[in-house]
Amino acid sequence: MIDFRHLLATVLAFFNRLFHRGPTPAPAADDVEARPKSGGTATPETASASSPATAPAAPESAAPEPTTMLTAAEVFDSVGPAYEDAFTGLPTQAAAIDWLVQQLKADPATAQGGAKIVDVGCGTGRPTCSVLADAGHSVTGIDISEAMLAAARTRVPNAQFELIDVRAFIEREKGQPASLDAVTVFFSLIAGVTQDDIRLVLSGLAGLIKPGGYLVFSTVPIPINNGPIKWMGRSVEVSSLSPEEGVAAVKAAGLEVKYDAVTTFKPRAAEAGICQPDEVWEEPHLFVYAQKPVVAASASS
Ligand SMILES: C[S@@+](CC[C@H](N)C(=O)[O-])C[C@H]1O[C@@H](n2cnc3c(N)ncnc32)[C@H](O)[C@@H]1O
Repeated sequence: MIDFRHLLATVLAFFNRLFHRGPTPAPAADDVEARPKSGGTATPETASASSPATAPAAPESAAPEPTTMLTAAEVFDSVGPAYEDAFTGLPTQAAAIDWLVQQLKADPATAQGGAKIVDVGCGTGRPTCSVLADAGHSVTGIDISEAMLAAARTRVPNAQFELIDVRAFIEREKGQPASLDAVTVFFSLIAGVTQDDIRLVLSGLAGLIKPGGYLVFSTVPIPINNGPIKWMGRSVEVSSLSPEEGVAAVKAAGLEVKYDAVTTFKPRAAEAGICQPDEVWEEPHLFVYAQKPVVAASASS
């Protein structure tokens, strides 16, 4: 069961930082809620650590003028590849990617590599595209940020990358037979989308996954619809779902949830030069691992 007291404290702290910029009580770093599902092989991960005790002085913030409302692409173009430094070693993401690698290894069709995988909002390509491509799979990262894709092409030469919004990607691909062995979505359905978009994108992606294939979805599970916030010093409109709504959206897309967990993480964004220390907060993270059911062939056919 989710510990609602801890989760509520995290959510309140998050909103407090967004709108009031005052000091907030930090939730415990071990705020973890993990719900392995029957048949799932995932192990609960510990929540990631907060900043080092003696953080180096933050460089001048690279954030644009904080009052300007940015598009999602502008936000991530301005953050750029330093995003990777702020999230390096996120253990829950590493565990999610490893879970997927193990599932693909256990399937004779993909055990030797060659699974067709799309990483939605791939950022710099690391860690997701990099780990999956190094495991021998055919990986395409899609993203709306030129700056992120430029880094990804250099950092992960053994994957393919495309500049495209996930909504346009689904629109383009949806007439084709489902051909993907897996789709990953790590923190990319938040900026510049509505709550309806999130549900539609999850359902559209599920339609592109082969029966028996996988979806790994993570987000910052704060229920908000097109709300203006400041993220790492940048003004942007965001949407997201609560943990329960996020899990329900994956199920409503026709997928079987194998595991879900809520954890917390404080990005090292000031140390990475993305923004000032008081513009960073500890984030709640939702991770959902899911599989598309294999429909049994009818006895009469
Ligand atoms: C928070 S970053 C996460 C990057 C990467 N998934 C990771 O975990 O390191 C979100 C990424 O999603 C991309 N993105 C945001 N909205 C998108 C959309 N509608 N379609 C495709 N990519 C999107 C952003 O440009 C950014 O690179």
